[in-house]
Amino acid sequence: MNEINNSTWYIGNVPITGRAVLAPMAGVSDIAYRLLAKEHGAALVCTEMVSAMGIKYENEHTKDLLFMEDVEHPVSMQIFGSDPEAIALASQVVERAGADIVDINMGCPVKKVVSSGDGSALMKTPDLAARVAEAAVKAVSVPVTVKMRLGWDDTSKNVLDFAKRIEIRGVCRLACHGRTREQMYMGAAHCPYLKNKKGVANPVMGNGTGEILIP
Ligand SMILES: Cc1cc2nc3c(=O)[nH]c(=O)nc-3n(C[C@H](O)[C@H](O)[C@H](O)COP(=O)(O)O)c2cc1C
Repeated sequence: MNEINNSTWYIGNVPITGRAVLAPMAGVSDIAYRLLAKEHGAALVCTEMVSAMGIKYENEHTKDLLFMEDVEHPVSMQIFGSDPEAIALASQVVERAGADIVDINMGCPVKKVVSSGDGSALMKTPDLAARVAEAAVKAVSVPVTVKMRLGWDDTSKNVLDFAKRIEIRGVCRLACHGRTREQMYMGAAHCPYLKNKKGVANPVMGNGTGEILIP
């Protein structure tokens, strides 16, 4: 690794050394995958998304997702949900489980998730999204981050306005999958859009395979 790749930056008060961050992937970024990513130089690993409702109702499968190894740290644990109270509770449980960072999923496009108003559906309800973010921030002492998309569809790309609304609630870093919900996982991710992040105070981590990421 060169000097830049090895530099230390911060999410809140959590030092991260290195540039590559493992994206959260349901059904993929389990402990074994995270350990491999770590071994191959990931500076920060992120868990699969964990349901806030699953935590609230003490679902057995959900409990398994909360486990992490000491060597994985720093670990960002991702939760999803749209009920501020459940999100506050889930954030506390995740913090107690050892997460260094709580990440809230506001980008999942899957029908089952958006039909409950969770994941990327929150981009259509920015006021609720801001309350969800604030509930997490107030509930824990670790930093809270949000992963979002460009917007719901091509006619409603609201990521910059959305980012401003949630960061004033105390979210300290944002990540954006450079596609809309409508695109799901298809087409090139449009990360250049994020370069001109007018008025958004916090760094936005671009995510997704797209034109600027392919040499
Ligand atoms: C199998 C799979 C599961 C994913 N699960 C999640 C998830 O749980 N939370 C999340 O924020 N993003 C999830 N994503 C999105 C990725 O984190 C990432 O934003 C996306 O794959 C980037 O686009 P790319 O695949 O073109 O690089 C998932 C992606 C895949 C392929």
